[in-house]
Amino acid sequence: MGMFLGIDLGTSGVKAILVDAHQRVLAEGHAALQVNRPHPGWSEQNPDDWIAACETAVNQVRQAVPLEFSGLAAIGVSGQMHGATLLDAQDRPLRQCILWNDGRAAEECAELEARADFRGIGGNIVMAGFTAPKLAWVARHEPEILAATCKILLPKDYVNLWLTGDYVSDMSDASGTLWLDVRNRRWSDELLQATGLNISQVPRLVEGSEPAGFLRAELAQRWGVGKVTVAGGAGDNAATACGLGVLQPGQGFLSLGTSGVLFCATDRFLPNTGQAVHAFCHALPDSWHQMGVILSATDSLNWLAGIAGQSPAALSRMVSQDAQGPAPAIFLPYLSGERTPHNAPDMAGAFVGLRRDHGLPEIVHAVMDGVAFAFADCADALRQGGSCPEDVWVAGGGSRSRRWLEIISACTGLRLMIPATGEKGAALGAARLAQWSTGMLPDTTDKADAPVETIEADPEMRHRYQARLADFRRLAGVGRRASV
Ligand code: XUL
Repeated sequence: MGMFLGIDLGTSGVKAILVDAHQRVLAEGHAALQVNRPHPGWSEQNPDDWIAACETAVNQVRQAVPLEFSGLAAIGVSGQMHGATLLDAQDRPLRQCILWNDGRAAEECAELEARADFRGIGGNIVMAGFTAPKLAWVARHEPEILAATCKILLPKDYVNLWLTGDYVSDMSDASGTLWLDVRNRRWSDELLQATGLNISQVPRLVEGSEPAGFLRAELAQRWGVGKVTVAGGAGDNAATACGLGVLQPGQGFLSLGTSGVLFCATDRFLPNTGQAVHAFCHALPDSWHQMGVILSATDSLNWLAGIAGQSPAALSRMVSQDAQGPAPAIFLPYLSGERTPHNAPDMAGAFVGLRRDHGLPEIVHAVMDGVAFAFADCADALRQGGSCPEDVWVAGGGSRSRRWLEIISACTGLRLMIPATGEKGAALGAARLAQWSTGMLPDTTDKADAPVETIEADPEMRHRYQARLADFRRLAGVGRRASV
C-alpha cells in the first residue's frame, strides 16, 4: 500500500511525517529554523535554510522506516503563509524571504488600497504581513531586486519547486498574497497590476488536494522511491484544518502556535474586512474559511523565555494551577504589531500594573492572559461577522499547556476540544492532501474523532476574566501610542 509524506514548513522549524493509507503516523522528523530580525519590525528567513531543514527532517523519516518510505506514493507540503520569496531567472532567491510577521510595509498598504479594490476582490484588508505590500516595499526600497524578480513564490511553493521543479501554488496559500480573486479562485490581473506585477511572475494554481506535479528524478533516485505525486498542499492554517477534519462550514479550531489563529470553515467566500478578519480559500475545492490572526501567541512566551534565560515550558509551569483569576498585571501581546482586530503593524507590547512584589511567575501569567485576551478579540470579530463556532479544536505547541487553554476558554467563552494524542496538525493535513491528490477523495461528511476532553472555564473564572478583558481592551490604545 502507498505511503504519504506530509511536510510542514513552520516559522520555528520543519516537521515531516510518514503516514500509511489509514493515516497512521509511522515516523516523524524535525529540524529547527531561526528567524532573522535585522531591524525592528523586520522578520526574515533564508529560503535555502528551509530546503536544508526539509532534507534533514525527511532523512530522519527515511532512516527510521526505510522499507515503508520506499513505498512513498505522494507528498503534501504545508507552510507558513504570506512570505515573499523572490527568485531570479535561475530560480535563486534574490534576498531573504520577508515573513508573515514582518511589519515593514505599513506605508505601502494604504497606497495599494487606493490603487485597486483589494477588499472586494481579494476579500481582505491590505495588511502589512501579506505578500502584496511587501512587493510594493521592495519596489520602493530595493528596485534592483524587483527588476531582477522573475517569480514570486510563497514559502511552501519554494519547497514544491525543490520537489517538482515547477512553480505551483494552491488556493489557500495564494489567498494570503492579496493577488487572488478569492471568490473565483483565480489570479486577479487587476490586483497584480496594482502591485506593478504580471501573471508570469506568479505560480500556476491548483487546488490543495490536486496534483501539482511529480517528484524530480534526482530526488526520487536519492530517496530510493518510484514515481511520487506532489500535491498542491496548503497554507499552514488550511492544512491544520485538514489534519483536524475541519472541512465543513461551521467547524473551527484555535491554534496556539507562533501566531494565534481562530479558524472557521465556510461554504462561501465571506469577507469581513471591518473586523480585520481574513477571508481565504480552503484547501479543498468549493470551500473557504475565515480566520482571526494574532501575530504573537507562543511567540510572546518565547520572547519572554529568551529574556529570562529559561525554556517556555519551564516558564509556563510557574503559573499556579490553582489560580482562578487573571494575573495582577496586564500584558499587551503586540510585540510584532497586530492583525485582528486592530490591523496595526506599528502597535507595540506593554506591561501595565507591575509592582515591586511581582516576579517572573506573575509576569508569565500576565503574558498567557494577554494572548488569551487577544484571542477573545478574534472570537468577537468572528462572532460579529456571524461565523464563530463555539466548540473548536485546539492545535499548536502552546495547546500542550492545559492551564493556558483554561485561561483562553475563560477569556473567549469558547469550548476547547482536545484531539486524541498524536499528530493532528498541519503535517497530517499535508499528508492527507497528498493522499487525496492520488485520487482518494476526502470524506468531508466524516465526523472528526471525538475529543478526548473539552475544556470549558467555570463561570466564576470566566466572570473574573471578563472583567479584566474590559481593562485589556481599554489599554489596547496604550499599545498604539507606545509605537509613536
Ligand atoms: C496567517 C498567518 C500565520 C502564518 C504562521 O495569516 O500569517 O498564521 O501562517 O505560520
